[in-house]
Amino acid sequence: MDVAEALAVLMSPQGRVDPYPVYERLRGHGPVVQAGPNMYVVTGYAEADELLRDARVQVLDDHLRDDLLPAWRDSPAVSSIARSMLRTNPPDHSRMRRLAAGAFTPRRIAAMRDVVTAQADELVDMMAAAGRDGTPVDFMAEFAYPLPVGVICALLGVPTADRPLFRRWAADLTGILEPEITPAELAVADAGATELRGYFTELVAARRRRPADDLTTALVQAHDAGDRLSGEELLANLVILLVAGFETTTNLLGNGLAVLLAHPGAADVLRRHPEHAPAYVDELLRFDSPVQLTTRTSSETVRVGGAELVAGSWILLLLGAANRDPRRYPTPERFDPWRAQLAPLSFGAGPHYCLGAGLARLEAQVAVPLLLRRLPGLAPAGTPRRRSRLTLRGYDSLPVTVGEPAPAADHGAPAGTAPGTP
Ligand code: HEM
Repeated sequence: MDVAEALAVLMSPQGRVDPYPVYERLRGHGPVVQAGPNMYVVTGYAEADELLRDARVQVLDDHLRDDLLPAWRDSPAVSSIARSMLRTNPPDHSRMRRLAAGAFTPRRIAAMRDVVTAQADELVDMMAAAGRDGTPVDFMAEFAYPLPVGVICALLGVPTADRPLFRRWAADLTGILEPEITPAELAVADAGATELRGYFTELVAARRRRPADDLTTALVQAHDAGDRLSGEELLANLVILLVAGFETTTNLLGNGLAVLLAHPGAADVLRRHPEHAPAYVDELLRFDSPVQLTTRTSSETVRVGGAELVAGSWILLLLGAANRDPRRYPTPERFDPWRAQLAPLSFGAGPHYCLGAGLARLEAQVAVPLLLRRLPGLAPAGTPRRRSRLTLRGYDSLPVTVGEPAPAADHGAPAGTAPGTP
């Protein structure tokens, strides 16, 4: 299979459901391969990491966007993402990122552990009640979505009652992160962006009238204080913080649970030894990354992995493939929480390294062992349904039966003594 054929399969419904065999086809051509006159695909870990940290390699700017999608300014979805830190280069990028970074310091994240634990316990209670008589429940709808959305909304100061609104809007908007998008998908993404921007326009006005101790108020005040954040940037960054704050973590919880249900021995060890959660979560991130790819362009000719990327190239960085690079991870197709802990590329690298990585890790490190301990009988119930997405990899639904729950009061009991553990 040549590079062009492999890429076509990757973008097809089959590649979206299981991209891993296609990554290996691409890897067979080298860690960095040319896929067209001005296009390169990266599957190697070291090469992707190097490119993400290279100052000459940047996110697509307005100029290139004009070439690729001349009408992008008419698209609420593309123009919103384009004004956020995710798709901006220095110095605008560093200015915006600094304004939000105060909410994500290790101290602020560690302080959220109790909020995450309380929310996870409450959701387990609700799942257990819904599945009491053996009825299958959808783990995505009942746990994987509401936990991260609850946490990021608490940080942003979004009212609890509004949380159910965001799942559809965010899923619609994130279609534009796919490497290929049809006009119909773009229209759906635009509708999602319009809803989200409308929502935040109202929240901004409310926080301006009545400030609160939350990230939305902090960003509104940065905007109102002068020239640090334009009105467009304010809305774009609130939208990206909300959406990035849960779409990905929802998929980490869903992908992670599916892997653990398929590896009951490993799940059992974590149930009895929750102190290993950091190693497990990093291996789950590596094994089935919630973000499979990102894109960049080069302002100058760059040499990497034996290839020469000419100036102005479009670079597809396959993070999910880099995470399975056998030069870094021996037998990469094996889920093995005991392998030497080398950070995966799931949160990216360089200036755009995920701002919420600490928060996402905390959520999964709390939630996954808590779920296993409180619902020791958790089992698959029917066929899970994958989303037809390549970039943000996850499940639409993941049906499970919950079995008999252990009470929340057991949380924090010494490892190995919780009732229900073997
Ligand atoms: C498992 C969960 C998560 C994964 C796998 C993930 C992954 C990523 C990746 C790969 C990037 C870099 C994209 C690029 O370089 O083009 C990124 C950026 C970002 N992430 Fe996350 N993310 C997760 C959770 C979160 C959370 C909880 C937040 C909280 C708000 C968050 C906020 C952001 C923001 C704001 C950026 C843009 C940073 C910048 O451009 O400087 N992410 N994330």
